[in-house]
Amino acid sequence: MFYAMRHDLARVEERLREESNVDYPVVGDIVENLIESGGKRLRPLLLLLAARPFNYDIDELVAAAAGVELLHNASLIHDDTVDHADVRRGQPTLNSVLPPETVILLGDYLFARSAMLAAATMNPRVVGVFASTLAKICDGQLSEVFNAHKLDQSIDQYKQRIYGKTASLFAGSAEMGAIIGQAPGDKIEAMRDFGGNIGMAFQIVDDVLDLRESTDSIGKPAGLDLRQGTVTLPTMLFIQRSGQNGHNAELVQRVIDGDSATDADFDHAVEVIRDSGALEESITIAEDYVEKAQAIIKDLPPGDSVEMLEALAMDSLSRTF
Ligand code: IPE
Ligand code: IPE
Ligand code: MG
Ligand code: MG
Repeated sequence: MFYAMRHDLARVEERLREESNVDYPVVGDIVENLIESGGKRLRPLLLLLAARPFNYDIDELVAAAAGVELLHNASLIHDDTVDHADVRRGQPTLNSVLPPETVILLGDYLFARSAMLAAATMNPRVVGVFASTLAKICDGQLSEVFNAHKLDQSIDQYKQRIYGKTASLFAGSAEMGAIIGQAPGDKIEAMRDFGGNIGMAFQIVDDVLDLRESTDSIGKPAGLDLRQGTVTLPTMLFIQRSGQNGHNAELVQRVIDGDSATDADFDHAVEVIRDSGALEESITIAEDYVEKAQAIIKDLPPGDSVEMLEALAMDSLSRTF
């Protein structure tokens, strides 16, 4: 489906490799391995596609696309440290093989290098979107930390949080692409909105995969959200609907609380949430975001760029890793 993008994506890949080298023994190889270990490259693809119907400079575009992917990888390094995750893209995480101080500094270093890529566009508006996106990601991640183990949070709070930690980078990537493409103001806004809606769907699906899949199939630890005390949409829907089933609700509450939960409790909680229909209900909510995204790009001139943007939106629902 994205065959037409292969040359541009190959240039992004090359730029990413050049700009993410770390000149220290061992860690240099570990970082290179992470960057090249099979990320889906959705954010650079979205950025490239958002510019494609317009009039862009390819060098600027490739720098920004490599920048958002590097920003994403740096945020994964810090996220896995915060989440104590031991696998990412099917490989051991940096935090499982290196001391935490090294991992934090490596993440910071890659954040800085990603900002240099944004600056290489020489476009102050792109740099502004890049910086505010990074602030939103950190704010979303902080909000997750501060709301861990809490049951009294609303679905709106959850949505705000996942917008910050995940959808903001999809929104920002699409916006940066449209800015570099010198799209008219309303189209830049539309692209941003499109990206934000896909990003929401994407994180909701990610939260479903965490409860539905195995570690092998997603290449990162399954069931980790509950173990971390992170309350996601399926868990919230389960709690809302579980009035009739007090025993299971009590189990899930205990697991989120974390203090007295055993390994068997965690596994059982995942099972009862899976069996409750909450995963399917969450997917329906993700589908609504994808529908919104698709309605937004209907106004763009028809062509293969719009078809690929539509496919990207659909892929966020059908992904399995
Ligand atoms: C993982 O993102 C982090 C989330 C926002 C859920 P991706 O699923 O896009 O990760 P890679 O880059 O393809 O590994
Ligand atoms: C993290 O969300 C999103 C980021 C900003 C990195 P998750 O913690 O759900 O992502 P995974 O599941 O580890 O990829
Ligand atoms: Mg994580
Ligand atoms: Mg996740």
